[in-house]
Amino acid sequence: MQNISFYIDGRLCTADKGLNLIEAAKRNGIFIPTLCHFKHLNPLGSCRVCSVNLNGNGIAGCTVFVEEGMNIEVNTPELLDNRKAILEMMFVEGNHFCPSCEKSGDCQMQNLGYETGIRYTRFPHLFVDRLVDARPERIVVNQNRCIKCKRCIEEIVTNDGYKVFNFTNKGKKTTVSIDYEQEAKLTAAQAEYAMQICPTGSILVKGKTFSKPFGNRIFDQGAEGKTVPFNKVNMNITKGRKMRIATTSLAGCFGCHMSLLDIDLGILDIIEVVEFHKSPLTDIKKFTERCDIGLVEGGCCNTDNIEVLREFRKNCDVLVSVGECAIWGGVPAIRNTIPLEECLREAYLDSLTSEGNATVIPNHEDIPKILNKVYSNHEVVKIDYHIPGCPPNANHIWSVVKNILFEEEYSINYPEFKYD
Ligand code: FES
Repeated sequence: MQNISFYIDGRLCTADKGLNLIEAAKRNGIFIPTLCHFKHLNPLGSCRVCSVNLNGNGIAGCTVFVEEGMNIEVNTPELLDNRKAILEMMFVEGNHFCPSCEKSGDCQMQNLGYETGIRYTRFPHLFVDRLVDARPERIVVNQNRCIKCKRCIEEIVTNDGYKVFNFTNKGKKTTVSIDYEQEAKLTAAQAEYAMQICPTGSILVKGKTFSKPFGNRIFDQGAEGKTVPFNKVNMNITKGRKMRIATTSLAGCFGCHMSLLDIDLGILDIIEVVEFHKSPLTDIKKFTERCDIGLVEGGCCNTDNIEVLREFRKNCDVLVSVGECAIWGGVPAIRNTIPLEECLREAYLDSLTSEGNATVIPNHEDIPKILNKVYSNHEVVKIDYHIPGCPPNANHIWSVVKNILFEEEYSINYPEFKYD
């Protein structure tokens, strides 16, 4: 095989002529993120996460085979942002609810979210309602999580050599269909393999949920010392006085406040330099002073949440969304896939715990009005920073707070940056 030279981001690299760019880059110590690309399979080039510039033109990196003198850009600011935007679009196009997904921690798309430092999506979530197909013998296929990478179609075959999956329809109506007859012939190991090669939580093996404890899943730990990109928040700080923090919980479970308190004795150091103003921690109900930073847990599911959030925006210099419910609606927002009337009927009239003769859905002028859907906080007011997690890691929360208040340099440790 002929050895050739080429350039990645201006660096001289060498590889065998015709080698796939992703592999060639890896052999030269350069990481190009991929999602649909899979080992020996022909590159599909569908997800575009691997986007690079080849001799000045944009192209899916996994479809490139290296040639002498090629000039490839991988990590320009524009490409990094494009890659992030592509991933954000994938997150909002389907229902990738990490805190309640069986594949969380073993999910390649989630991991790329960590790698690229996605803290929130700049696009609104679609909250689609597609088929969750439990008819197959061994697996369940959740179309809400499918990114049409084609891996399962190419890779999963029965012992007789028949395909189990295929594409049906075209364009945005494309779905992955299942040949039930062939699927029933899969061995337990083949079904397990189908689940593993799915880069999201779309293919699951029946009866298998969180198979590994937190901390032991594939993407719980990164390489030693690995950190996640952090965008600095700039604020004008008045020095020489104690900083003021306000906190609130909107449509959430208070888990993020519990995590706030998880720094244990560290809180004693914190209260040397900050004071808590309006917060469930102090039980101060009204703002009487302007605050430097407001930490908001939970999203907006009713009119009261909107009012409180606007009050926080008005009274805090920097506003931070803390946790998945604040960032995209979280578990409460799962109701966004169902019409509100149906949700209320199920909750108050038809549920197992409803009184047999229940006929009333609570409705009174003193009760805040339920919104037609659950909103993320940045859909309602400007949010300056987002701390993901369900709940976020305590160290992560306090590192961000200290960075904002005292301009302390810090980076987020990979294991502390999680969506679940
Ligand atoms: Fe290259 Fe998906 S990994 S297009």
